[in-house]
Amino acid sequence: MSRMEDFLTPHQIVKELDKYIIGQDDAKKNVAIALRNRWRRMHADEKLQKEIVPNNILMIGATGVGKTEIARRLANLADAPFVKVEASKFTEVGYVGRDVESMIRDLVEQAVNLVKTRKSEEVKEKAMENVEEIILDILIPPLKEPGMRPAPVESGDSPSTDYELNEKTRDKFREKIRKGEMEDRKIDINVKKPQAAGLGMIGGGAMDEVSMMNLQEMLGNMMPKKNKKRKVTIAEARRILLEEEAAKLIDMDEVKDEAIEKAASSGIVFIDEIDKVASASTKGSGPDVSREGVQRDLLPIVEGSTVNTKYGLIKTDHILFIAAGAFHVAKPSDLIPELQGRFPIRVELENLTKDDFYHILKDPKNALSKQYEALFAAEKVKISFNDESLEEIAETAFQINQDVENIGARRLHTVMSKLLNEFLFDVPEVIGENAHIAITREMVNEKLADLVKNKDLSEYIL
Ligand SMILES: Nc1ncnc2c1ncn2[C@@H]1O[C@H](COP(=O)(O)OP(=O)(O)OP(=O)(O)O)[C@@H](O)[C@H]1O
Ligand SMILES: [Mg+2]
Repeated sequence: MSRMEDFLTPHQIVKELDKYIIGQDDAKKNVAIALRNRWRRMHADEKLQKEIVPNNILMIGATGVGKTEIARRLANLADAPFVKVEASKFTEVGYVGRDVESMIRDLVEQAVNLVKTRKSEEVKEKAMENVEEIILDILIPPLKEPGMRPAPVESGDSPSTDYELNEKTRDKFREKIRKGEMEDRKIDINVKKPQAAGLGMIGGGAMDEVSMMNLQEMLGNMMPKKNKKRKVTIAEARRILLEEEAAKLIDMDEVKDEAIEKAASSGIVFIDEIDKVASASTKGSGPDVSREGVQRDLLPIVEGSTVNTKYGLIKTDHILFIAAGAFHVAKPSDLIPELQGRFPIRVELENLTKDDFYHILKDPKNALSKQYEALFAAEKVKISFNDESLEEIAETAFQINQDVENIGARRLHTVMSKLLNEFLFDVPEVIGENAHIAITREMVNEKLADLVKNKDLSEYIL
């Protein structure tokens, strides 16, 4: 965890979440507190630090009300490694090779990526310089410097030796490369092609995953790396070589250590569909047993244990777990008590209202209306939604949720696409550049009214 002073306060976190998620204040507040608590823990008395455990959160709410969205945005804000898993996938029959611990390994993998990206950013300048030199060497190979330089010729600045001539040309080209004047020129570069380790199916069994990965990596490193020549433009060469050069400048051991530490102290694991592994009443039958098995498997990880990853051991004690589920059939109390106890904070997400829908369409940074505006703008067509039209769309979506099936804010996607598909199809041939499509309430009504009235129809189309 790097810059503590940058860490957002709960109020600030909620404010940031507000930019993307409408309503759900209770959930926002609770995740904000949980996030800030980690910062608080790091600043707490050292003797107590280890004792302070994260308050894992159980989010309860119908489908499409923002559960996943909140968790995802939260992780973005925190610049924290984040993984999302569906609890139900662990019950799948024949699901071998990926045990419950795999989510922690994925988390560490995420952390490694985050740390690597940051470090590449740090060495980028140096790497760019190196890349420039490599490209230059390909274009104008350097001559060996002569042991003794002859005295410079006084009369003019015309170079007197091959070496000086070569240096001078190189300087000129270096300048050209730097200015991006030769981006389209083709050159031959050496690219390292690691042998693809096609060993995925050897061994098997969940316990072996780590050793498998280690083995693969080891073999991958042992295999001679094939150097392949490729003809590419300088622009492409820059991109390919930059990655290689940056990797050379980064100390992978440091990355591993930092990533493990980052995942352990700031990682967030989002376990979706937790209700699907809760067994509602009927004990003993097949699927229930495997569901309960998943819960038992989850227990030690959420409880705090040590997981072996290919980057090293990681303790899960301070990872923040957020579980979510609709709990339509099963209730939170159908989870095994030990697991319930590990998710002490319960937040209920409310069903979204018509008014929420209106705001979801309009306000978030990534609001649907804004997305469509951007799509049309790409064709130089302006589309605008007046408030009344948005209200009408919200109303329609709400109505269909009531009449057909409640899929929450996802309904807005289907309604919008139904409303706008004709336009999307007609641009650019029928509706050309600089056209303006003004969406009005009447238009929404006209296009969607029949569907709303006819339940059978809306079941299929919307
Ligand atoms: N409160 C909200 N504010 C803004 N957008 C929302 C809100 N709720 C849902 N959405 C939008 O609806 C879509 C689905 O939301 P999300 O993935 O969070 O649902 P969920 O609650 O996780 O549902 P599920 O139980 O099916 O996983 C997303 O595209 C999201 O942007
Ligand atoms: Mg979800």
